[in-house]
Amino acid sequence: MSIAESQIEQLKTAATKAAKHAYCPYSRFPVGAAILIESGQIITGCNVENASYSLTTCAERNAIFSAIAQHGRCTITAIAVYTPTETPAAPCGACRQVINEFGPQAEVHCFCNTEKTIHTQINQLLPHAFTQNDLDIK
Ligand code: THU
Repeated sequence: MSIAESQIEQLKTAATKAAKHAYCPYSRFPVGAAILIESGQIITGCNVENASYSLTTCAERNAIFSAIAQHGRCTITAIAVYTPTETPAAPCGACRQVINEFGPQAEVHCFCNTEKTIHTQINQLLPHAFTQNDLDIK
C-alpha cells in the first residue's frame, strides 16, 4: 500500500521547503523532513546543529517531536526526506528508531535534486526493531 501520488508530491514540497530553514553551519548539509500523520496533517522539520556537534538533531526527529508536541500521540503514515544532493539519502539509524516508534508501518520517501528517489518502508530500513514489547518490565 502506498499513499496517493498527490500526497507524496505534497510531502516532497514540504520537505524541500523545510530544508531552507536548516541550521547547518558546521556540516553545510541541509536536510528537510515532512511527515504525514493519520489525521492527514503534514508536519515539517529541519536539522539543527550546535557548536557542541553531538547536540545536533536531525530533520526527521525534529519533525516527529514537533508533531507529538503539536498533536499529541499520533501515528506516522509516511515521511519524506529531502537533501540537496545528486542521490537521495535515507534516514540515519537513530531517526529510523524514532520513526518506528510512531509509525511502524510508515512509508519512507527520499528525494534529492535529481529524479532519483528511494521509496521504502521503515520495517525494511529497520528490521527487528527494538520496541516497547521488548521492554520486559513487570
Ligand atoms: N542529518 C539529518 O538531518 N538527517 C539524517 O537522517 C542524517 C543526517 C543531518 C545531521 C547533520 O546536521 C547533517 O545532516 C550532517 O550529518
